[in-house]
Amino acid sequence: MKSQALQPNPIIEFYDLHPPMGDIKSDVISGLSSTPKALSPKYFYDQKGSQLFDQICELPEYYVTRTEIDLLEQHGEEIASLIGKDSILMELGSGSSLKIRTLLSALKPKAYVAMDISKEHLINAATVLAEDYEWLEVHAVCVDFSLPWQLPMHLKGKRTAFFPGSSLGNFTPDAAIKLLNQIGHLVGKGGELIIGIDLKKDRSTLESAYNDAQGITATFNKNLLVRLNRELNANFNVEAFHHESIWNRAESRVEMHLVSDAEQTVSIDGKEFTLLEGESIHTENSYKYTLDEFTKLASRANFDSVKVWQDVNQLFSIHLLKFR
Ligand code: AVJ
Repeated sequence: MKSQALQPNPIIEFYDLHPPMGDIKSDVISGLSSTPKALSPKYFYDQKGSQLFDQICELPEYYVTRTEIDLLEQHGEEIASLIGKDSILMELGSGSSLKIRTLLSALKPKAYVAMDISKEHLINAATVLAEDYEWLEVHAVCVDFSLPWQLPMHLKGKRTAFFPGSSLGNFTPDAAIKLLNQIGHLVGKGGELIIGIDLKKDRSTLESAYNDAQGITATFNKNLLVRLNRELNANFNVEAFHHESIWNRAESRVEMHLVSDAEQTVSIDGKEFTLLEGESIHTENSYKYTLDEFTKLASRANFDSVKVWQDVNQLFSIHLLKFR
């Protein structure tokens, strides 16, 4: 559906495929009904959450963003030469659309499609990008790409997907293979994917990346409950929760939790959920890979590795993949 009423500015084309709030409510209720309790990290990104995430990206402990941007700046020309000009460039989880700037002048795509779950943030980011790159055709799609979906517009040309930031890390390996395969069908046979993947490393580096000294990540995590209080009329006692990050080595993932410091009962839509003192709500997984593990995972989703880049400290990697 192309939403005319929400067309914010004639310089971008905006499409709203976001699921209704009722779906979020039932998802939250099912997460709080399961043992252990869990909420999906995709709900972090309301307007406040998107802003807090931008702040996380600037933190000294969060090596992910600056390492990836350095890699994109260093290897952008080579990436562009391997892909070629005039592709339809589609970014999943475009956020503030900052990283794509490192590739645009070298890649000279025919069009850029920004896709994100956070509507206002998406519209603002796409508009600013379109203003800065006048030659570029910019589309913005508000979508939850973890659900089945299709591009709402018809765009002819070779397609390239851009999925930076190790966002794939939010998905279990099985779900990651499914999502990669869906991206494969989006770009089609011979289409490419440029994807950022965070690498396994020592526990203290990983745990502090998700538990910074300034407490921004803690605020980001708790903002999920603030959002649910506001949008679902829930009554979490947000002050009574504390933030935790744990490297779960057996599962190869950093986990974020919100732990209740007191027993409390929360009601949503007439349903009650009791949290015991010390009980946690698991809010995020961030899976980490070795280069080899990720190449194998991608292959199971029918993507072949074209080239891989990593920084000298082996913190982060960028993979160029081709769908077969
Ligand atoms: C956006 C999912 C890649 O897992 O590193 C950052 C989100 N959570 N700090 C990540 C996040 C806490 C981030 N991703």
